[in-house]
Amino acid sequence: MTGHIQPPMSLLAELTHRCPLSCPYCSNPLELDKKAMELSKEEWISVLKQAADMGVLQVHFSGGEPMARPDLPELISVARKLNLYTNLITSGVFLDERKLKILDEAGLDHIQLSFQDVTVEGAERIGGLKGAQAKKLEAARLIKASGIPLTLNFVIQRENIERIPQMFDLAAELNAGRVEIAHTQYYGWGLKNRDKLLPTRAQLEQATQSVELERKKNRFQIDYVTPDYYADVPKPCMGGWGQKFVNITPAGKVLPCHAAEIIPDVTFPNVKDQSLASIWNESELFNMFRGTDWMPEACRSCERKEIDWGGCRCQALALTGSAKNMDPVCVQSPFHNVVEKATEEQGDRELIYRRF
Ligand code: FES
Repeated sequence: MTGHIQPPMSLLAELTHRCPLSCPYCSNPLELDKKAMELSKEEWISVLKQAADMGVLQVHFSGGEPMARPDLPELISVARKLNLYTNLITSGVFLDERKLKILDEAGLDHIQLSFQDVTVEGAERIGGLKGAQAKKLEAARLIKASGIPLTLNFVIQRENIERIPQMFDLAAELNAGRVEIAHTQYYGWGLKNRDKLLPTRAQLEQATQSVELERKKNRFQIDYVTPDYYADVPKPCMGGWGQKFVNITPAGKVLPCHAAEIIPDVTFPNVKDQSLASIWNESELFNMFRGTDWMPEACRSCERKEIDWGGCRCQALALTGSAKNMDPVCVQSPFHNVVEKATEEQGDRELIYRRF
């Protein structure tokens, strides 16, 4: 499918895969890009210019830990001059008053600060970094004091799901404008630990009640992302393949989602070889699952086909062996039993940690 392709709305710039944490649900691919493979500052600036020319509105600087890149303030400043809205997705462990001031002066619009838990013990067990929780709390206070809008992102899994009410209280204490209660998604490293991380249905129902209760208090905005394993219909992953989001890896590969590198038998285009616009509009990868023409039955005749866009291709591949199959979360999928079976698994072993 080509012709009448809308430009992406958001660009996720994964500046580096380097990260001081070792979360067992890391969303980066199994094969990480080494420091020597990372795009240079000049290459990222070229990407930002191309994105702005295409009509991209927002850039999310992410990683790994994007603050591991010393040129981050300069990239933010370039993006702002190009009228791109800039968001920093960070663990906060490298943030201090001096660095925050530099980011603020560069024009940073928003910070999304991730938390692994509300307790020190829980957070350090998942993140694997001693002292991280204290640094995150200090980072949140500094961000609030700077006036940069702050979203707290709590990553939810079986061990911390019952502490959601305490997470909301912490967010209120830190005066956050927005809170994301985002359940772990099971791709890449997360899939390795799914039997240890996926909550039970009863836990999920309790969590949903906590979110509904908190919403009534109107203390901040809440985004709630549930594990789709308990849903009957799939999520519109990335708002549809090649429709709204473009992801660039530290080494310059351009992907429709952060997990797409698992898709077999396709060339992954790179900004070092081709323009971002030609990749978005013409590459085989971006046109593979764009729109509805590629869909199998029952997606093709489903009235939700332009709502969920066939769900998640990476999940279909990981759980059914082919990215062309229906997302097995859908109750109409012939593979739905795979998802149902996974909800009954309760691993009795240690977590497998991610190390860079
Ligand atoms: Fe790749 Fe959902 S994560 S399509």
